Amino acid sequence: MKKVSINDIRKLKGSGQPFATVTAYDYTSARIVDNAGIPLILVGDSAAMVVLGYDTTLPVTMDEMLMLTAAVCRGTKRALVIADLPFMSYQASISDALHSAGKFIKKAGASGVKLEGGKRVCPQIRSLVDHGIPVMGHIGLTPQSYHQFSGYTIQGKTVEAARQLLTHAIEVAEAGAFALVLEGIPAEVAKLISEKITIPTIGIGAGPHCDGQIQVFHDILGLFGDFVPKHTKRFVNLTDQISTAIKSFINDVQSNDFPAKEHSAHVKPSVISEILLEKE
Ligand code: KIV
Repeated sequence: MKKVSINDIRKLKGSGQPFATVTAYDYTSARIVDNAGIPLILVGDSAAMVVLGYDTTLPVTMDEMLMLTAAVCRGTKRALVIADLPFMSYQASISDALHSAGKFIKKAGASGVKLEGGKRVCPQIRSLVDHGIPVMGHIGLTPQSYHQFSGYTIQGKTVEAARQLLTHAIEVAEAGAFALVLEGIPAEVAKLISEKITIPTIGIGAGPHCDGQIQVFHDILGLFGDFVPKHTKRFVNLTDQISTAIKSFINDVQSNDFPAKEHSAHVKPSVISEILLEKE
């Protein structure tokens, strides 16, 4: 099975058909997503919230993200796996960005990294790409700026803010990013950006005109109820289905219906009689 490459993702721009992308954080979910035909998997730092139970994405560490990314890579045969650089693992310097990104490639097996920010992180993007590390950009409602934005607030709503977003998008593309996540921005602004830049845009809460769409695994499967973003569509409610299954398990154990004969190994009655005789 041929692995999806950065060039394959680049070619999805303007293919006439939007592509779907999703996050994954462990071996089992990565296998499911990969087998379903998703071309690109993001090990998002949203893991901080949906896997580790933090209120924001800020506390997740390099070690935690590396462990999750390695598990996703082990479960993925075809899709391109991109790892999110956690908060403050790349912002302070190019050197930080290189060291952090290098670990995701070398230790965890990712094919590239994602980082948040526009013009400010272009020196990091340029250097990573120069050193052979593919980068996915991310602008708009960037969750690592939660405090600066005073919450998860839609970005790019005024003429000036939209113009700035377009400038950031162009600069991130020119710095060498192979794709750009547009999060939490008006659909019309995302359309404008998608038309103006040459790399694929991947929207989340950014309307239907992006080249691709990304969603958080737990959101589209109804696994995460703490916070349901407006941009999400639940394609199934796994929380209810899992809860029903777990209740059936509890009932079957309590009623002695599980385990049944076929769920255990068995020996001939003579084996036990022999042991009992030895004891006498
Ligand atoms: O962390 C994440 O999951 C993300 C995507 C939703 C874009 O950044």
